[in-house]
Order: sequence, then C-alpha cells, then structure tokens
Amino acid sequence: MPVVSLEGRGDFGEWRDAARSLLSAHVHPDDVRWIVSGGADDLFGRDAAAHNQGQYGDRVQAFSVPRAFVEAANAALCHCEPDRFALLYRILWRLQADRSLLGDTADRDIVHLRALIKNVRRDAHKMTAFVRFREVPDRRVEERRCFVAWFEPEHYIVARTAPFFQRRFTDMDWVIATPKGSAIWDGRSLEISAESAEKPQAEDATDDLWRTYFANIFNPARLKIKAMQAEMPKKYWKNMPEADLIPGLIANAEQRVAEMAAREASQPPAFHERLQAAWQEKAEDEDGGPDDAFAGLRQDAATCERCPLHCHATQTVFGEGPIDAALMFVGEQPGDQEDLAGRVFVGPAGNVFDHALTSAGIVREQAYVTNAVKHFKYEMRGKRRIHQRPNVGEIEHCRWWLAGELDIVKPKIVVAMGGSAYFALTGERKALDEVRGHPLALANGQILFVTVHPSYLLRIPDEARRRQEIARFHSDMLAVHKVLRAC
Ligand code: URA
Repeated sequence: MPVVSLEGRGDFGEWRDAARSLLSAHVHPDDVRWIVSGGADDLFGRDAAAHNQGQYGDRVQAFSVPRAFVEAANAALCHCEPDRFALLYRILWRLQADRSLLGDTADRDIVHLRALIKNVRRDAHKMTAFVRFREVPDRRVEERRCFVAWFEPEHYIVARTAPFFQRRFTDMDWVIATPKGSAIWDGRSLEISAESAEKPQAEDATDDLWRTYFANIFNPARLKIKAMQAEMPKKYWKNMPEADLIPGLIANAEQRVAEMAAREASQPPAFHERLQAAWQEKAEDEDGGPDDAFAGLRQDAATCERCPLHCHATQTVFGEGPIDAALMFVGEQPGDQEDLAGRVFVGPAGNVFDHALTSAGIVREQAYVTNAVKHFKYEMRGKRRIHQRPNVGEIEHCRWWLAGELDIVKPKIVVAMGGSAYFALTGERKALDEVRGHPLALANGQILFVTVHPSYLLRIPDEARRRQEIARFHSDMLAVHKVLRAC
C-alpha cells in the first residue's frame, strides 16, 4: 500500500502534489495511507516525503475541480486532525464522478469536511481577537517600533491569519510566534515560518494597558459567564494579560451592580442593549437548532474575506434581532458608526429608521434588521470616511450571508430599503418607484415591500421635500405593519 508522508502544517501545495500524483495513477483512496512526517507512525521519515511527488507514475495529470473544493481544502488542511489528508483525497476522488458532491450536506465526508473548516475558521477568528503584542523596546528599525506576540492556536492557521495582522498593524514591525509556526512583518514583506517557536518571557507596559482597557469595558450588569467563556474560551486566557483580572471581576460583579444601582437613577438600557440581552439569553437557553445555525453563520461571517471590502472595514456588521422574527428589514451596508460599533443602524440613518418604525407602531426589537453588504465601503476624504455604494459584485458576494439569514429567520415579510437591498433580494435592478408602495412576492413566497433607504432622506437638501419624503417613508412602514398584523 502506498504511504504518503506529509509535513502537514497547513500547506495546500504539499498535499495537492501528492494527491495529483495518486489520482494520475488511479490509486483508490482505500489503497493509500497518509501520515504526518515525524509523527508516531512515520517509519519512512524524509524518504517517504521525498517520494511523494510522481511516485505513482511518471505522468502526472492536471485535474479540474470546483473552485469551492480548492477553497475548502485550503482551509481543512490547516486542521490538525491527521485524517484530513485521506478525507480530502477521498472527496477529490469522488468529485471526479460527482461534481455536485460538495453541495450534498447530508454526505458523511462533506459533513466531516465542513466541521474541519468551521474549527479552522473559529481558531483563526480567535487568533485575530486574542493576539496580544508586546513591545521590544531596544529594537527599533528606522523609527519603526518592534513588537512580539505569543499565541497558541489549535490548528495550523498562522499563514492564513497573518494577512489580517499585516493590514491592521502595517506601520510597526512584529513577530507572531506560535508552536505551529510564526509570522514576521517588517513593513515590506510578510514571512511565514513553519518552525515551532518558544514562548517569549517578556512582560511590558502594554500588558497593563490591556488590563486597564478590559477593566473599563467590563460591565458587571451585563455579565453572562457562559456567553463570555464561549466568546473568550479559557484555553486562551494564559496568553492574555487581562485574563488574570477575570476571576476577580466576576466575583465582584454582583456587588458592583448593587453599587451602580444605588448610585444612579435606573434608566432603561438603549434598545439595542435590550435586544442583544434578550437575544443572547434565548440563544443560551436552547441548544441545537436555529440558534446554533445562526451563531455559526454569524461567526463565519466575522472572518469573511469573500470580497476585498473586509480589508478596510473595522469588522463584519452582521444582522441582529430575534431569529424567529416575522419581519426582516434589509438596508444597504453599515455606515461609519455601524462599522465602529459592529451594530446595524445605530447611526444617523438608524435614527430616521427608528422614528419611522415608532410612528408606524412597529417594535424594532421584534424585527430582524440586517444589510445587503456586511462591511463598510468608503473612501477617505481628509480624515473622514465617506460612504461609497457597494457594486454589483460586492452585493453578489455578500448575498451568501443574507441568504443564510433569510434561511434561518424565515420572515413572513421582508422590507428592502433602497436599491442595493432590492437587488440583493431579487437580483433585479429597477427604479424604486416601479416597485415601491405595494406588496410583491419573493421567489420563496415571502412578502416583499420596497421602500427608500433612510440615508436617502437625510440627503434631500430641500426642507419641504424632505418632510414630504419622510412622511411617505412613514406611510410605507404603516403599510408594512398593517400586512404584518394580518399575517
Ligand atoms: N445604512 C445601512 O444600510 N445600514 C446600516 O446599518 C446603517 C446605514
């Protein structure tokens, strides 16, 4: 039986060469053994690795595979599970006879593949959130400050995640060292090393900054230990300077809440805080089902790189609201304030939207609110970030997430606010006046209402016309509410 020995450090090229060679020689997946070189069962060591390419025949053919498979294999190979090589080769083999295999979500191999990808994405997301840089004070290169960070990923995600840090921390030199390879940025090139690194022992003033920051953003009144540990799993704590504060903050939370209540007249929290709390509570109460699917979708979207908009946006701004809402609103894309807050419709357009809902008697907390595009697109003018309309390609790339939201929430009524939302939902580009003002049907039978985008109302210079248009927007919302009540 052929034995293929791979380094297995997330390198797609290494696996692809071996797989191509095996497939060219028609080696059945059951007739090959994949091992990690240097691992316990690697009797062949380097010799086996050297024989991988072209070992099974001199003529190595090229094979065409769906692009989605290449993306999936790239991600799954970063997983540390030894079976991943065999799984991917089996899927590659099966794809030769069934090009639609990847879409079969009930297939065992595909379920397994998706689970691997999900773990890798989650690990990469955690890396972007929990890497903590420390300055190396005596190392400055041409006035550029140097930083090091230590992180312990579960999987081989360093190469995959390093470009995120390159974009975010482009004006400093840094090294992210991990037991599964390192990334090094010097302002010009990003170097990835597969070698394991050792944990640096330094502690610096930045550690105190992290502690101060965390102590300040920690709100004892909103403490939910389970949700907090899901977001910031304990295994990451040891490399996060602020983590040693957590037990103390949790222990004192109750007392601090009592003190806060005694100090302040009680005020209702802002609507989005109530919304978030209710929604999170619900998600915690129920295991499995749509809540899990939604949490997974939202988590995947957090690291979305389907189009270049993620490069300059602060974060993905995902939809929010009850996931069994009967009513869904779809806007265009987050604005400047939404991008910073990570919440939909919390800026000036959000105010216009809120007023219209209130005037129509619609309770925002009962609706699901989202956007066609999940990243803020803008151009810099001086120091200001000026909104730019997303183009057709960007909307189409992002439709993946909107379709997922529609699939899980299953609203009875969807309201498209503006042309981008209408296009995202229907694939049609029409003058809004043609489709506005009367209920339409979406392909899946849901009712679609179309209205203008709230930001459009903010841009009307003439006062009298603006009032007129705002009144029309309010009456659109009233019409939506009437149909909603009748549903
Ligand atoms: N405009 C939108 O379309 N969505 C927001 O979240 C904010 C402004």
